[in-house]
This record gives sequence, C-alpha cells and structure tokens, in this order.
Amino acid sequence: MRSQLESVINELKRLKQEGVEGIYISDSTISDLKSVVAASDGVASDESIPAAVAIKPVEPEPIRKSKPKGESLEDLVKSGPIEAAKAKAQLALNQYGKPLTTIPTEVPVVQLPDGDKQVQWDALREQVINDPVCLEHLNPGAQVVFGVGSLDADIFFCGEAPGGDEEKQGEPFFGKAGDLLAKIITAMGLSREQVYIGNIMNWRPEMPTSVGNRPPTSEEMAYCLPYLRAQIELVQPKVIVALGMTAVTGLLGPDPKRRMGAIRGQFFEFDETPLLVTYHPSYLLRYATMKTKRLVWEDMLLVMDKVGLAISEKQRGFFQ
Ligand code: URA
Repeated sequence: MRSQLESVINELKRLKQEGVEGIYISDSTISDLKSVVAASDGVASDESIPAAVAIKPVEPEPIRKSKPKGESLEDLVKSGPIEAAKAKAQLALNQYGKPLTTIPTEVPVVQLPDGDKQVQWDALREQVINDPVCLEHLNPGAQVVFGVGSLDADIFFCGEAPGGDEEKQGEPFFGKAGDLLAKIITAMGLSREQVYIGNIMNWRPEMPTSVGNRPPTSEEMAYCLPYLRAQIELVQPKVIVALGMTAVTGLLGPDPKRRMGAIRGQFFEFDETPLLVTYHPSYLLRYATMKTKRLVWEDMLLVMDKVGLAISEKQRGFFQ
C-alpha cells in the first residue's frame, strides 16, 4: 500500500511542478483514502479532508548512498521501532532492489576538443553517455539520454527527464509526450530534425516503485546542468523553450513563489539566451482542452516571431 501512496504523492508533485494548483477529489475517493490511512496507521482517523485539495510543495526525500557506519538495519531494529523505521528508509531500494544513491556535489567538468560543432557534440555525447554517475543511476536495460537535433537549431526545447520510453530508446521525448511535441513542432512549420531537444536530466530519476515518474531532486538537476549548458553553448539557439516547471527550475534556479500560470508565455534569460516558458506536453496530454492548447500555441507563436519564422493567418488561428 505504501508504494501506491508514494506513487500518488509523486503524481501530485509532478502535477504541481507542471503548474496545477488544485485538484478535485470526490467524496468516495476521500473516504477510500481515509480507510487506507486508518488501516496503515492502525488507528481510525477522523480528520476531515477538504473536497478540493490544494497541492502543497513537498520536499524531495533525502536519498542515502550507503548505510552509515554502525547503523545496520539489524543494529537499529535492536534499538527500537522508530530507529528501525528510519533505517529502513535509509536503506531504501528501488523496484529492482538497487539502493537509491546520493548524487556527488562535485558537478562534471566539460572539456571539449578543438574542432567544429559536430566534433565537439560527439565528444560531449561520449562524455555524458559514459559518465559514471549517470550510468550508476540507470535502471536495468536503460540508457543515458542525451539531446538530439540540429546543431544549428534556432529553437532549443528543454524538457524534464527521460521517462520509460526514453530511457529504453536513449532519446529524449520518444513516447507520448514526444509525439505531441513533434505535432507542435510540425504545426510551427518545422521538423524534429530542425530543432534541438534536450532534457534537464540525462537519466530517469530512480523510483522506489515501478509505477510512474518523479521530478528530479535539486542535486540531480545540479549534477546534469553542465551537460545541458554545454549543449546550449554548442547549439547557440535563438530561443530556449522551457517545457514545464522542472525545466524552468533546472535552468533558472528554484523559486518557491514561481507559478506556472503566471510565468508561461513570458521570456526570461539563461546565460543571455532568451528563454520562453510554456506547459510541458505531458500537462497538455492530461488537460487537453482547447484553452490549454491555445495557450501553448500562443507561446509557440511568440517563439516563431522571436526566431523570425513566417507565420500564416491559418497558423495564427490554430486552436481558437
Ligand atoms: N518528458 C520529458 O521531460 N522529457 C522526455 O524526454 C520525455 C518526457
């Protein structure tokens, strides 16, 4: 049951990152949740849960690399139930039985060889896909995911992290969200090969369960940032499109007051490159209303204008 609840919590975190500020929960779901909580606590809970539950920020749980000296599970079980529970959490395993590990605080140093963009990109890709920290965090059978696209692209789309499809394929935006991103790119009159697509993260953040994805921690994002920055420096796009709140946080740094609804459609700067914020395609998949589609499309019209793409009357009127 705990793992299902963790999945729900992760999904709520993800929705919040994407800009959702409240969700509706029906009375019957609330009553189901109450019984789950009561059963897992071993006590009846009479706390009422409001019908519209606001999503509150949840700090990512610290992930421990190895058990601390003298704190083996057996030792702590002997010293009492609270300590045993703590020890269990410290020794958390992912769904493949692999311990969830910490991320080093030293970030990678990118050293590119002399040569043209292609030579440098090849070297950077080699460094990333062989990075021991990236490799250490891979799920079995998964690949490190590096950016793809034109090294002369005017538009650099930046997502969050690989999901299940992407970690298998070793390519960003390969699943359903990727199909939708490809449709958006086509509607702009471009192809996937004419833009560049990267992610904040180069691996799929590990999960304690096999269900769902979780947003990366600040340590994970900080570790991968030099690789993203190097790709941006290499491509030198005219605009970066930050897809969703995690991309914004990864590129611009954390700001607890930032709200997706307030910043989408606005230009910021990353290392002097204009950065436009819009919703993540996964958010669009979940909230596929004409209104949301139009908001994202209006953001894309701003991007097209910024990079000097011709915009037809037909394109201007999409999703109205
Ligand atoms: N979502 C992302 O943010 N990136 C991907 O590569 C796939 C889904």
